[in-house]
Amino acid sequence: MHLSARACAVLLSLWSSSVRAADGTVTLATGPAAYQQPLPGLTGGDFETFREGAGVFRAAWLKGPSIDTPRFTGLGPLFNRRSCVACHIGNGRGEPPAETSDQTRSLLIRLSLPGADATGGPRAHPAYGDQIQTDAVIGAKPEGRVSFHWVETGVTLGDGTAVLLRRPEIVLRDLAHGPLPAEIQMSARISPAVFGLGLLEGVSGETLTKMAREKKADEVRGRVNMVWDVGRKQAVPGRFGLKANQPTLRQQIAAALAGDMGITSSFLLGDECPAAAKDCREAGSTPEIADADFEALVRYVAGLAPPPPRPRDAVAAVGAKTFADIGCAACHRETLEAQGTVLAAYTDLLLHDMGGDLADGRPDFLASGREWRTPPLWGIGLVGTVNDTAAFLHDGRARTLTEAILWHDGEAKPARDRFARLSKETRDALLAFLGTL
Ligand code: HEC
Ligand code: HEC
Repeated sequence: MHLSARACAVLLSLWSSSVRAADGTVTLATGPAAYQQPLPGLTGGDFETFREGAGVFRAAWLKGPSIDTPRFTGLGPLFNRRSCVACHIGNGRGEPPAETSDQTRSLLIRLSLPGADATGGPRAHPAYGDQIQTDAVIGAKPEGRVSFHWVETGVTLGDGTAVLLRRPEIVLRDLAHGPLPAEIQMSARISPAVFGLGLLEGVSGETLTKMAREKKADEVRGRVNMVWDVGRKQAVPGRFGLKANQPTLRQQIAAALAGDMGITSSFLLGDECPAAAKDCREAGSTPEIADADFEALVRYVAGLAPPPPRPRDAVAAVGAKTFADIGCAACHRETLEAQGTVLAAYTDLLLHDMGGDLADGRPDFLASGREWRTPPLWGIGLVGTVNDTAAFLHDGRARTLTEAILWHDGEAKPARDRFARLSKETRDALLAFLGTL
């Protein structure tokens, strides 16, 4: 796809290499705070709301009642973590447990029984709900403890380089309501980065459908998930969540508050939860987050800018060409249309069959147990700067970008095979290109 001069200008104007921090100082947008910058153009009252929202994102909630922080009370009874930032570390991705003995910290285990609920979504377990909450306030009991057992396998690349891959097996202990049935479907999800999502919300349903219909290279297909919109009470195209199972940022954030922290909002009250989604229902039926705080939180996340790409040297330029030539861009699109703007998000927001090894076997609306949404790759070169223990892919199994690419299968197998056959020099160039994003 060729960009018009106007589209290029819009695209470039989205990024500036330095940013104004909350205290008015100007900093480089590529340091540890790279994922915390506001979109250029957020000024005045909008910038004030963004700052308020940043405080809500970082606040550690308490059960309450509390004299000193009454604003952030209402945690639980069941929860995973006390704050958004505890999982979205530095607004970036989370980290998987290193050892079998470690507790999960920025990871969720989603649960469901075969079949679908009344909205077409996953069918929750009657006692555990749709996610294992590993923590609880005093007087309540956590649903269980989660850790990973890592299973390692080796692969050899075309040039003889050996790479060790690891895959997690989920280990559950101390289950509060007894063992899970044999047919339970479990999916481990590591927290993704949360910047740039307001821009991605601007990609229209029509654009998604159009991209899904396009003829693409190799076996690449791409499907739109159709998911339940709580506000509109109908199925609409999904965009957020690792299986594109949430239609809007607002609903995604209300669900995070209810599911991950046990906090109700006027958007999602406990009694509006599906009958079987016990953890959601138990969050209560009066909003625990004030409407103004919820609004600020949504506008904060929507207002977070993707970091500006760094300049490409000659090697990274070769890598960019290789990325397109071997078929990576069929899914990680270099350009994405959003409300008259063109985004370099390196995603199509569509679902793709990624093969049996990445499959979680847990369908979510139209997404099958083998499908995942193409994750945006913008900002991926700064992952290590923001958090050097962060890991890649839906469950954090990949320690490096090379490992992440080598797990690609299904629709991405031809691209993966071409990557594995590259010379070391060209492979390094591709990685150097990813490093500039
Ligand atoms: C226990 C860890 C945890 C906590 C706490 C948490 N999240 Fe998340 N978040 C996740 C995971 C895991 C996903 C991926 C969910 C999925 O696909 O099922 C996610 C997904 C998201 C997404 C969608 C990202 C995308 O690319 O589509 C947003 C936005 C988000 N979270 C915001 C928040 C906000 C705001 C809060 C605080 C109210 C929060 N999260 C609290 C773990 C967490
Ligand atoms: C058929 C579509 C498709 C193609 C082709 C494809 N990818 Fe992906 N890519 C995905 C999906 C879907 C995921 C997420 C899989 C998961 O989390 O299990 C992903 C994940 C990734 C990740 C990890 C991102 C993260 O946030 O953890 C990287 C890096 C990546 N791809 C790079 C590449 C490169 C380089 C190529 C070309 C060799 C490529 N991809 C080809 C669909 C594709």
